[in-house]
Amino acid sequence: MKNKDISIYIHIPFCEQKCNYCAFNSFCASDEIKEKYINLLCDEIRRRKCDKVVRTIYIGGGTPSVLTGEQIKKIVGTLFENFDVYEDAEFTIEANPNSITEQLLQTWKSLRINRLSIGVQSLNDKTLKKIGRLHNKKMALEKIKLARKYFDNVSADLIVGLENESGKDLCGYAKQLLALGVKHISCYLLEVYENTKIFQMTKEGKYKPLDDDQTIQAFNKLSNYLCDNGMERYEISNFAFPGYESRHNLNYWARGEYLGFGLSAHSFVGGKRFKNSESLKDYELGKIEEEILTNQEQIEEIIMLGLRCNSGVDLLEVKKLGYDLTKNSYFDEYIAKGILMQNGEKVFLNPIFYHISNTVIANLFQ
Ligand SMILES: C[S@@+](CC[C@H](N)C(=O)[O-])C[C@H]1O[C@@H](n2cnc3c(N)ncnc32)[C@H](O)[C@@H]1O
Ligand code: SF4
Repeated sequence: MKNKDISIYIHIPFCEQKCNYCAFNSFCASDEIKEKYINLLCDEIRRRKCDKVVRTIYIGGGTPSVLTGEQIKKIVGTLFENFDVYEDAEFTIEANPNSITEQLLQTWKSLRINRLSIGVQSLNDKTLKKIGRLHNKKMALEKIKLARKYFDNVSADLIVGLENESGKDLCGYAKQLLALGVKHISCYLLEVYENTKIFQMTKEGKYKPLDDDQTIQAFNKLSNYLCDNGMERYEISNFAFPGYESRHNLNYWARGEYLGFGLSAHSFVGGKRFKNSESLKDYELGKIEEEILTNQEQIEEIIMLGLRCNSGVDLLEVKKLGYDLTKNSYFDEYIAKGILMQNGEKVFLNPIFYHISNTVIANLFQ
């Protein structure tokens, strides 16, 4: 990315129904609230206009596919009127299978959107029902097929650790996704958050997520399957065919600049981080929290993001902040055990140890 380049994230907080595992800032809303939000969002885009040139755009949520074609047109129109966007910018929209329609796909394409990220989660009807999804396997596969008619670059999300879902099951789902020409798969480990239905269900014995060992086993099986079939694990949870890595996420992980518009959206510009309010009322008032990272926090962030990606940690970058990673008491041991790998000034986490990344990262902090 050049100095003037920037990424843009736009948050659409609406969903048709809250999934049982989800703790994201998303909710069901009336048409009136949606319209009001879109107006606020467009105001924010206009207000924060700047002379940066946009490399990647990501409309995420929530569920952006619940918006009508006209509503998306309004948001994207405002964005293009106020920002210069590269001709070859990567432009992603997140979608749920049940709200994808042929008409929406055509509208998105006409707006220069060129990448779709579809939440599949599982291809087992029983599982999908139990986690509160509004689609079944048949619909997910049909909608991906339809999406592929208009978009080359389609990504799918899967969750690992759901009840009764073995590595073998996940490889079966991956096989079906690859057969439809999906180019990128995000594989997230199930997180059971306290304020979710699944937490309550688990507590009451009505839901049984896989235990940690089963989850790691299932993940490794899926990971091997995807890599054996030509994908690369370019980040701890993300797999892509060469050239189909998410440029938007790569920018986050490389600590590039980005502007976030909408409820609870984060921004990182001029070395400063900002966060929009999480409540609609405060967002309406334009409340923004500024977050200034200490030196230590910056070092931790560089190490954490670098080790989660195949780009690694740049030793010189952390040295500039006053930290010599090679002097950490765990460093030599991790190198000797093959957990960390060094190539010149770059240090990588060996992918076969990704499952202990949290411990390794914590130990490498000052
Ligand atoms: C921000 S969500 C929005 C995507 C879209 N609304 C959907 O549900 O398809 C992006 C992804 O995060 C993942 N996710 C959400 N909650 C999760 C949880 N508790 N544990 C693991 N993955 C989760 C799901 O795979 C989901 O597709
Ligand atoms: S997983 Fe997606 S559809 Fe489900 S509640 Fe979260 S954001 Fe909404």
